[in-house]
Amino acid sequence: MSYFSAVDVITTKRDGGQLSSEAITWVLGAYARGEVAEEQMSSLLMAIFFNGLSTTELNTWTDQMIASGERLDLKGLSRPTVDKHSTGGVGDKISLILAPLVAACGAAVPQLSGRGLGHTGGTLDKLESIPGWRAFLSNDEIRSQLETVGVVICAAGQGLAPIDRKLYSLRDVTGTVESIPLISSSIMSKKIAEGTHALVLDVKVGRGAFIKRLDQARELATTMVGLGTDHGVSTVAQLTSMNAPLGRAVGNALEVTESVEVLQGHGPADVRELTLSLARIMVGLVGLNVEPAEKLDDGSAYVVFHQMIEAQGGDPDAKLPLAACRELVVAPRDGIVQTIDALRVGVAAWRLGAGRARKEDPVSAAAGVVCLVREGDAIVAGQPLFELHADDDAHLQQGKGAINDAVVLGEQLVNAEPLLLERITK
Ligand code: URA
Repeated sequence: MSYFSAVDVITTKRDGGQLSSEAITWVLGAYARGEVAEEQMSSLLMAIFFNGLSTTELNTWTDQMIASGERLDLKGLSRPTVDKHSTGGVGDKISLILAPLVAACGAAVPQLSGRGLGHTGGTLDKLESIPGWRAFLSNDEIRSQLETVGVVICAAGQGLAPIDRKLYSLRDVTGTVESIPLISSSIMSKKIAEGTHALVLDVKVGRGAFIKRLDQARELATTMVGLGTDHGVSTVAQLTSMNAPLGRAVGNALEVTESVEVLQGHGPADVRELTLSLARIMVGLVGLNVEPAEKLDDGSAYVVFHQMIEAQGGDPDAKLPLAACRELVVAPRDGIVQTIDALRVGVAAWRLGAGRARKEDPVSAAAGVVCLVREGDAIVAGQPLFELHADDDAHLQQGKGAINDAVVLGEQLVNAEPLLLERITK
């Protein structure tokens, strides 16, 4: 093993130079072993934040993140594997519908997911509102459920790209989260280590997403698609708008209920549109000649959802937790809804108790926001805009304070803006 000086690695990147594969391999390995200090890795991350990583550097950086842990072996399953990752939004419950739907189309979907942080929700938090449902499965259980049910949504084990946790915690406190190569390697190392053959990325852009601008979303998507493809994972990205919340429900149990509505052939049109669009990409990536809309409309996807919940100890027919406190927020005047700000709605849901500020905080299953109007709706003074749900009055008051100005009223006629923005392939 070659030995490098951490200071040389930092100054090379600081001055805009290229890091050799050996230098990257050394610095990540030495950091994992505790031989490169936190302040040195902080400096290197900041140098990467400003000067980026070339494609070769990024591939090696990602390889080393993958090599820091185990890789799931999904070879030998009777179905092709395909997964989905969303960069996170408000009301984004798509995985709950999409994963069983794509399994109903004949693929195996290993959805290793995370929890919500801040104003964006997490798939595991949503499913944990179903009584009995278990997020933690062993690798053997994951494989066996993929064979029998065709889909598993569970917690990404601690063994996949473990150095990402260390790096992410450091990025979080050093202002280096918003770096395209660091985000890309963080997301893609975990997805590649998971062992899926194909992957669709839903890259959110807009007010409620952590990427606000289309050009940045395009760059992130292009980088992740390149990384996936270079690592043998057929990867396509769909850029989607996250200016307004997705669907009506924002909050854990509320989103499960809305997902079941869509699985039963009802539910909001935007949730159905995005689910079907991503499902078509996924089945296409693994060469299945099936129209997902048929599997949604004939109830097959709902049957698979039932099986998936039961296989993980949950009762899909159980009553979900209901909020003890509810209150309507009404329109102050007549007007046409110009915008609904996904960020404000997401923050309100978080304040109501549906989200967490730190990884270890608990979340409320029942809390959240139901959006009762859509952009372009003509409304009258006193008409309900939102229904707030909370477990107690203190949370309700915090949510009420946060949802102010989430709806902008005006006189202009508004056409709903497109949800599907661009598709990125290599
Ligand atoms: N999600 C991740 O897993 N990593 C990032 O860096 C950003 C979002």
